[in-house]
Amino acid sequence: MSGHSTYEPKTGFERWLDARLPIVRIAYDSAIDFPTPKNLNYWWTFGGILAVCLMTQIVTGVILAMHYVPNGDMAFNSVEHIMRDVNYGWMIRYIHANGASMFFLAVYIHIARGLYFGSYKAPREVLWLLGCVIYLLMMATGFMGYVLPWGQMSFAGAVVITNLFSAFDQVIPGLGTAITTWLWGGFAVGNATLNRFFALHYLLPFMIAGVVGLHIWALHVTGNNNPTGVPVKSKADTVPFHPYYTVKDGFAIVVFFILFAWFVFFAPEALGHTDNQIPANPLVTPAHIVPEWYFLPFYAMLRAVPQKLFGVLTMFGAIGLLFAVPWLDRSPVRSMRYRPTARWFFVLLVLATLGLGWCGGMEPDDVVIRTGQTANGDPTGFTVTWLARILTTYYYAYFLLVLPLLSRNEKPSKVPDSISTPVLSGGGAALPAGAAAEPQKKG
Ligand code: HEM
Repeated sequence: MSGHSTYEPKTGFERWLDARLPIVRIAYDSAIDFPTPKNLNYWWTFGGILAVCLMTQIVTGVILAMHYVPNGDMAFNSVEHIMRDVNYGWMIRYIHANGASMFFLAVYIHIARGLYFGSYKAPREVLWLLGCVIYLLMMATGFMGYVLPWGQMSFAGAVVITNLFSAFDQVIPGLGTAITTWLWGGFAVGNATLNRFFALHYLLPFMIAGVVGLHIWALHVTGNNNPTGVPVKSKADTVPFHPYYTVKDGFAIVVFFILFAWFVFFAPEALGHTDNQIPANPLVTPAHIVPEWYFLPFYAMLRAVPQKLFGVLTMFGAIGLLFAVPWLDRSPVRSMRYRPTARWFFVLLVLATLGLGWCGGMEPDDVVIRTGQTANGDPTGFTVTWLARILTTYYYAYFLLVLPLLSRNEKPSKVPDSISTPVLSGGGAALPAGAAAEPQKKG
């Protein structure tokens, strides 16, 4: 942990434990007295929201696993049994299924916050990389979880995604087939596949929890970034984490969980797909295979490229770029608040990603801008595939061209001298010196 410890054991037992396992000291230094920039806004509450989401997923998931049967003949019915017979099974399942969506919603906001305020820049690169690892693990967990109910879309999703690896046959003949057979545990998606997906879906959240521990450790070494991006210069720039941010995070968690509860109790199937209410049948392929909403932008990229191997590489590369972003953006200014040009390119990145998500949910041949029609009356013109190509190109250009070029050529606006400066010079009267230091006092 950064800085020196301010913990003073009060009771005899605390002193005894502190000399043997300073666990209370670590908790105190990181969750109570941790000096936190005083200007963090609500975008900084999503880390706490994510931690609660992870706990919710683990608790509900463990309960579901007590009644779920990972067998191709029984999985679908065991989920129906949970929904109908298990006490509050419907609620636990809906919390878990919608919880995955809420978890991804929160992580996308958390990542976007990091990209906008430059939280990935030195000295927080490792913190960022650990976040990227968490995101990859979340994607793997979400994908495998969706396969478990063994509905039509579960099955189709498993087939499409595992088959992606067969593209590596184009690199070394036989390599892709070997990988897919190995993933399946057989010669097709089947019982062995379902079983291993269940085992991994149970395991990965605990690995995520482990990496989150490292993520928060790294955060406590560097300290938080803040909306100005200007490092903490003095004690007057910070407040203790408790009660200031425990209360703020707590409030945000409650608001977020109201939205969550709305989905669970009023629209529990809104984010699902009706085809998944049909038991998996390898002989019938759904007319329109779509993943969960949080994978749609990447799915759109995959479909935008006509050549399979390059489609797969484009899709994985889009996630890979996130790992490289600390080294692609070399601008000395962290926060986009003071980067007037980069800010607009960032807004376009968000729009492009949302647009890709939309494309991922449409049929590739759907016409976006109609320019004519075929002999039998079908519209012709600019298709979803072409829109996805343009948006994918922009996504890549943002990371590979815009950020590196702006690092050298952008003229930033005036960055404040310290975190306190924009607050104290923002029109209101400056607090007397003693008052500014007030929040530091404890007790
Ligand atoms: C289970 C998922 C995650 C959890 C529980 C989590 C938790 C947290 C917490 C509690 C914080 C401090 C509060 C805050 O800044 O919001 C934080 C900060 C941060 N997280 Fe995460 N995180 C997760 C995923 C990610 C991902 C996927 C990324 C990026 C790819 C990421 C990047 C960061 C960065 C850069 C910071 C420092 C922010 C700053 O101080 O400006 N995190 N995280």
